[in-house]
Amino acid sequence: MAFGLIVGSASLVAQPVTIPIETENHVIVLQTDISNGLHTVYFGKPLAYPNEYAAVSGGYNYNDDNAGIYDAAYTPAGTWNLSEPAIQVTHADGNKSLDLKYLRHEVKPIDANSYLTTIVLKDPLYAFQVSLYYKVWKKENVIEQWTEIRHSEKGPVILRKYASANMYFSNKDFYLTTYNSGWAREMQPGETKLLPGLRSVDSKLGTRAMLLQSPNFILSFGKPASENEGTVMLGQLAWCGNFKLDFEVDSYRNLRFIAGINPYESEYTLQPNQSFKTPSLVYALSNSGTGEASRGLHNWARKYRVLDGEGERLTLLNNWEATYFNFDENKLKGLFKGAKELGVDMFLLDDGWFGNKHPRDGDTAGLGDWQENVKKLPSGLGYLVQEARQEGLKFGIWLEPEMVNPKSELYEKHLDWVIRQPQRPEKYFRNQLVLDLANPDVQDFVFGVVDNLFTKNPELAFIKWDCNAVIYNAYSPYLQKRGLPQSHLYVEYVKGLYAVLERIRAKYPKVPMMLCSGGGGRGDYELLKYYTEFWPSDDTEPVERIFQQWDYSYFFPAIVTDNHVTDWGRQPLKFRIDVASMGKLGFDIVTSHLNAMDRSFAQQAIKNYHSFKDIVWHGDQYRLVNPHEADISALLYVSRDKTRAVMFNYLVNTRYKITATDRPVVLNGLDPQKKYRVKEINTYPGIASTIDGNKEYTGDFLMKVGINPDVTLLRTSVVLQIDEVK
Ligand code: DGJ
Repeated sequence: MAFGLIVGSASLVAQPVTIPIETENHVIVLQTDISNGLHTVYFGKPLAYPNEYAAVSGGYNYNDDNAGIYDAAYTPAGTWNLSEPAIQVTHADGNKSLDLKYLRHEVKPIDANSYLTTIVLKDPLYAFQVSLYYKVWKKENVIEQWTEIRHSEKGPVILRKYASANMYFSNKDFYLTTYNSGWAREMQPGETKLLPGLRSVDSKLGTRAMLLQSPNFILSFGKPASENEGTVMLGQLAWCGNFKLDFEVDSYRNLRFIAGINPYESEYTLQPNQSFKTPSLVYALSNSGTGEASRGLHNWARKYRVLDGEGERLTLLNNWEATYFNFDENKLKGLFKGAKELGVDMFLLDDGWFGNKHPRDGDTAGLGDWQENVKKLPSGLGYLVQEARQEGLKFGIWLEPEMVNPKSELYEKHLDWVIRQPQRPEKYFRNQLVLDLANPDVQDFVFGVVDNLFTKNPELAFIKWDCNAVIYNAYSPYLQKRGLPQSHLYVEYVKGLYAVLERIRAKYPKVPMMLCSGGGGRGDYELLKYYTEFWPSDDTEPVERIFQQWDYSYFFPAIVTDNHVTDWGRQPLKFRIDVASMGKLGFDIVTSHLNAMDRSFAQQAIKNYHSFKDIVWHGDQYRLVNPHEADISALLYVSRDKTRAVMFNYLVNTRYKITATDRPVVLNGLDPQKKYRVKEINTYPGIASTIDGNKEYTGDFLMKVGINPDVTLLRTSVVLQIDEVK
């Protein structure tokens, strides 16, 4: 791709315009037809001679009546389309037909690695246009697609469906992996071959995307997805509101893919000369399987997307499962001592610290009343922050500022701020309701909650931002009062949230914040512009967690996933700490309950974690043995310069006759020329390692033959540190 601003426009006698959207290893080619319709004509490896892209479409010969629209770059409804549309509108005059023709395009370089292609399509009959955006990061093979819709008709236009992206693949045989979820069972993968017809994955939860279905997906071309070979696309609709992904194998056995906001109850009235920007579809492509695609996405996320993605994170002790709502100053100060003893960076005060008229002593009251509870915390938060500092700890705090309990002063004073159907009984999700973020006063309130906390306690080092409820009885008092359609609520809620986060980040650009959602409800690449990390699941049972972390790892780098050691399950402390170390490590236990051996093991394991965390956070991840397919699971993180690596191995099947130790695990990502020593770390006091730490291996050997971590029923969790021998 040559750089410099490249522009094109429709000519009167239509000459085909060919627009390649090229990453380092992939290309999507769009091309106009004789009447300026824009089509996707190619998806595959880039051609050596870009002038040959123009000839690609010549080899295809679909010639029935509907040929010429099925592969539209953005499929309009109401004229001659017979497939799932990307856009459906009702014009100002009530007419529902839409046609879109190529008007012009430009390619703008951003830096040596990235560029933005903008293509403008216009209806020949109506003053209505759609701009398609493709932002490309070449080296990472990552593309972000979104659209912007505008019109200058005589009155408002109703947008009935308004997708972010519309893609077309003519490779044969498509395999789709999607993720079914629920509380404490997030990211359960399922792969199916797509058959002719439409397969949709969607959500209607309002506040969060991932509780039941996930906006993350893997598309594999030609055969089921595999880790080290084959063409795959790993993607996500970056929107925490309602989403819809439509996969349609058409009558030509090609795949149409349309992703965007869920049109469900979301007709949007667009005023003349205003524009509607859709959320982004973000995806990574690879011709060498899901491993490479994940590494591309991880690198992109850390470098270009996640707040402070290449920075540091704070290890912590959280008091949620240690105390639930039952704590006071002294109990917390006792936990500070435990945190210091463990050697973590921060203490995180969870739910239950607020509410006076309706104290937050359980999850039925107090939410919305963000003043310290004077009984539990008579000396206030400031005092706790200072006390933590005395112990050498930073102090973080839990908030759920988008929500309200009906038993709260906020609800009593501001019923008009609450999403609820005024004429129906209220329906609660975890005993709470959602605030109407479409309302700018509510946005001010939510911003104020955060701002007040920081103004009063400038040393606060971290926020855990929770979101436990979905929207039931979707009805906005604000939209009603302003005479605006209720069908704007789902969209305005999310936009309202972004507006608050913009303000928070303008004033507090750096403070780390965790996205939490009573389970992995909110890990998306739009919100992660404002947050440093997210909470993948309340399920911290470590065997379950191996599977979940594995499945999240396709889409998110380890640095953004928060893993806490808790008392869930029956695994020993070593197993729990090892599993939680594959991400950002935290603890949610009462340290005084640990016996002497466990305490000393934990202290050593945290020291070890501090010594290798930069590899887990900033290095390259290689999934070696899939727990869904074997008795063990093995994952490797390799430093960028390939001089250091850390490998995590776990037993995931406890039947007597396991085959885990039969054979070595083959490594990946090392330098074949370098020599390495493999040493077991995180061994439990008094238990000798069975790994000979003095042996030297070349990277070549480790990546062809491998090494046996000796995972057995007695050694269920094995962490290996791999260092270059100079
Ligand atoms: C749900 C979160 O996932 C938990 O970690 C905890 O913060 C609770 N909310 C508090 O109510």
